[in-house]
Amino acid sequence: MDTEYKCKLRSKTIHLESPVEMYYGIDIEKCFADKLSEYTFDRLFLICDSAICDIHGLRLFEEIKGKNIPVCLHVIEPAETNKTMRGLEKLCDELIAERISKESIIVGFGGGITGNMAGLAAALIYRGIRYIEVPTTFMGMTDSSLSNKQAVNGGSGKNQLGTFNAPLFVWCDIRYAETEGIRHIKAAVTEGIKNALIYDTDEIEYFQNLELSDGSTDVFKLYEMFCHITDSKNKILKQDPTEKGYSVILEYGHTFGHAIEYLTDGMIIHGEAVASGMCIAAEICEKLGYISDEDKVLHYRLLFPHFYHNLHHFEIAPLITPGKILQQIKNDNKRSGAGVKYVLLKKIGECMNPEGDYQVALDDNLVLECIRRYYANVKTLREEGYVYFCV
Ligand SMILES: NC(=O)c1ccc[n+]([C@@H]2O[C@H](COP(=O)([O-])OP(=O)(O)OC[C@H]3O[C@@H](n4cnc5c(N)ncnc54)[C@H](O)[C@@H]3O)[C@@H](O)[C@H]2O)c1
Repeated sequence: MDTEYKCKLRSKTIHLESPVEMYYGIDIEKCFADKLSEYTFDRLFLICDSAICDIHGLRLFEEIKGKNIPVCLHVIEPAETNKTMRGLEKLCDELIAERISKESIIVGFGGGITGNMAGLAAALIYRGIRYIEVPTTFMGMTDSSLSNKQAVNGGSGKNQLGTFNAPLFVWCDIRYAETEGIRHIKAAVTEGIKNALIYDTDEIEYFQNLELSDGSTDVFKLYEMFCHITDSKNKILKQDPTEKGYSVILEYGHTFGHAIEYLTDGMIIHGEAVASGMCIAAEICEKLGYISDEDKVLHYRLLFPHFYHNLHHFEIAPLITPGKILQQIKNDNKRSGAGVKYVLLKKIGECMNPEGDYQVALDDNLVLECIRRYYANVKTLREEGYVYFCV
């Protein structure tokens, strides 16, 4: 297995309006500088997540510098509370003070937060300079880098301020994800489960049999999961590369998830919040008679092992009462003049599309009732030994 996968550089095209090549493999860091040599630029600005600077950032920085490529290292704090216009403005001001130019390239090196901030900074500085995305989290590799969407949080909600900005290419060395905690790996897997529930039903069996024990982040297992999840998301993007039509189905569970993530300042991380959101959406789909009770239970069975990861979040319970979630949803970045609409399932593998936009308007009381139903189920599961939050 080692020789089959290690140091082998592979690539696949991400089917977006501006198609992006994703290079991936295990231990491919040493090839990165060679890839850079295909481009002409004055300096490279490596925007690095502060938490991984010592374990990965400095090594990549030295590797690039060792090839006589002019490179500056710039460290940023990977916090949802820093993924704001203020955090972005500070980053842009600092890069401009460091004499970044139109001929420079920004490299975002970190998780989804770093990728979004670096990608948006590249879109804004001097009306746009080139950008390369190097995700180091499993979420970044399998989800956020397969999108040209770059955004920061607004004053009242997640990802409210942003734009589309395609990187020159995405570079995924799966080895980076090996140093992530199992909580983050599991949270990323929930987006893969989402792809299976909304479209790629052949993948459901894979996730049903997937075992991720605490502490195990074997790099070959990660590689296999990476291939499953990215292929699945790519199949959906292929049908709507603009990310403005059909691919809104990728937002399944996200309206609730973003509200939970925002209300808790990111203490409940993206994938966990989206997993909760998918279970709430399943409650709604079942209540409206779209899916069976069995299909709703399938959501909990698939998702619970991945997001109920011995979290002790009792202290944040007051932040996420059903009423507060509903209130926060009103600030969702997909809201239209008619208000907030939701991505819902018609059946496992197919989303509702009553008005041609793959979203459904819902009565607030129904939403509230289904959030409460979800909480009741969580309580039961907690009594069975899972620990998450309680209300
Ligand atoms: N643009 C999109 O389409 C899109 C899609 C999904 C998520 N997102 C955004 O991405 C963010 C979530 O991304 P994320 O889960 O990657 O979170 P993140 O960027 O917050 O990273 C999570 C944590 O992992 C640490 N980390 C990063 N790489 C590591 C490594 N190799 N080893 C150990 N620790 C490491 C970080 O320091 C951080 O503490 C959210 O802000 C979400 O809104 C955007």
